[in-house]
Amino acid sequence: MNILAIETSCDETALSIIEIDNFDKPPFGMKVLSDLVISQINVHAEYGGVFPALAKREHAKNLVPLFTQVVQESKIKLTTKEYSEDVVKNILERESELFDALIEYTKQNGIPTIDMIMVTHGPGLTPALWVGVNFARALSEICNAPIIPVNHMEGHITSILLRDDYKNQTNVLYPLETFQFPLLALLISGGHTQLVLVKNWGEYEIIGETIDDAVGEAFDKVARILGMEYPGGPKISRAGEDAIPDTSINLPRPMIHSGDYRFSFSGLKTAVRYLVENLKKEKGEKLDHQIIANIAREFECAVTEVLIKKTKQAIEEYNIKGLIIAGGVAANNFITESFKIVVNDYDIPLYLPLKKLSGDNSLMIATAGVINYWKKKETIDKEKITAIGNLKLS
Ligand code: KG4
Ligand code: ZN
Repeated sequence: MNILAIETSCDETALSIIEIDNFDKPPFGMKVLSDLVISQINVHAEYGGVFPALAKREHAKNLVPLFTQVVQESKIKLTTKEYSEDVVKNILERESELFDALIEYTKQNGIPTIDMIMVTHGPGLTPALWVGVNFARALSEICNAPIIPVNHMEGHITSILLRDDYKNQTNVLYPLETFQFPLLALLISGGHTQLVLVKNWGEYEIIGETIDDAVGEAFDKVARILGMEYPGGPKISRAGEDAIPDTSINLPRPMIHSGDYRFSFSGLKTAVRYLVENLKKEKGEKLDHQIIANIAREFECAVTEVLIKKTKQAIEEYNIKGLIIAGGVAANNFITESFKIVVNDYDIPLYLPLKKLSGDNSLMIATAGVINYWKKKETIDKEKITAIGNLKLS
């Protein structure tokens, strides 16, 4: 069975085609036939962040060329089935460019043998999500394939299941039966900061989240204050590596003593702004590399200490058997190295995604979709699926 996975929740347009032997028993004989991402980073960099209307336009522009490529790379068969152009036109009435490109594709190439479509329907930027959802609906009509809606955050959680060299594996997932529950997932991305209790695959409970900025958002905003381009997370991370101990730079650890699982990072970003303003008054407009490195590291320390404090509390309260850290910020070495010490103390395993799968991608959507279908055997009617910007895990 060939499955297409679609991810368009933020600023990456991602498509992959996987093959599954069965849905009865893990590891399902899951293979990756093709997997591609187009990043919009350069388009958004000049605005200093992701601009939803622009993200939607870019997804609409990128989807058919990317689809052409994943179908080609996957070497799946193409047929000459009939479908209703009117139904597709209706579905893509607001994306006429996408409609024209898709119809042209089927006329030139035929209909790819896709048996199921998995698509992110939330959370994320609503206009960006809708493009992916409508693309899935159109392909559902064209390929006569059912749709599985996927929660983007479940995608991040299940991203840790993909093996190191998944490209060459006939079973790309780690054995699901080796995981002990409950697991705790610390999800740190550009849009979310959540502690999620994973009671079993497909069973989640959010036990705490940020009340304002997400960790990745704080990284990006602090990077901007320090004069780095969007997305600043990786740049802060690199700058921090050059830091030397500097007791004159001190940032707050917001809500570290709140006793609950809520986070807040907006005040931390403001504290960096004041710190930088004061330093500039003292030392001149251009701060030197060393000071920037020291601020970056102190910021990473502040974030990490808060994350660790709350995570430890949850590990103890819920008798956690393993820790997952996922989302774009899971690429941060300082954070992950610090957590390696924590899990060692509790003698529990730490599960991290591969670096290249920590950011948004469609393989994690395929993985979450496969797990969901295995557990629930539910698909959704293409008329009923909607994009839900603030979709919650449950
Ligand atoms: O999961 P993701 O790709 O997109 C969302 O779902 O939001 O996360 C993107 C976020 C951005 O804020 C980016 O700056 C951050 O992940 N990020 C990092 C690093 N790499 C990416 N933050 C800190 N250190 C990194 N190495
Ligand atoms: Zn994400």
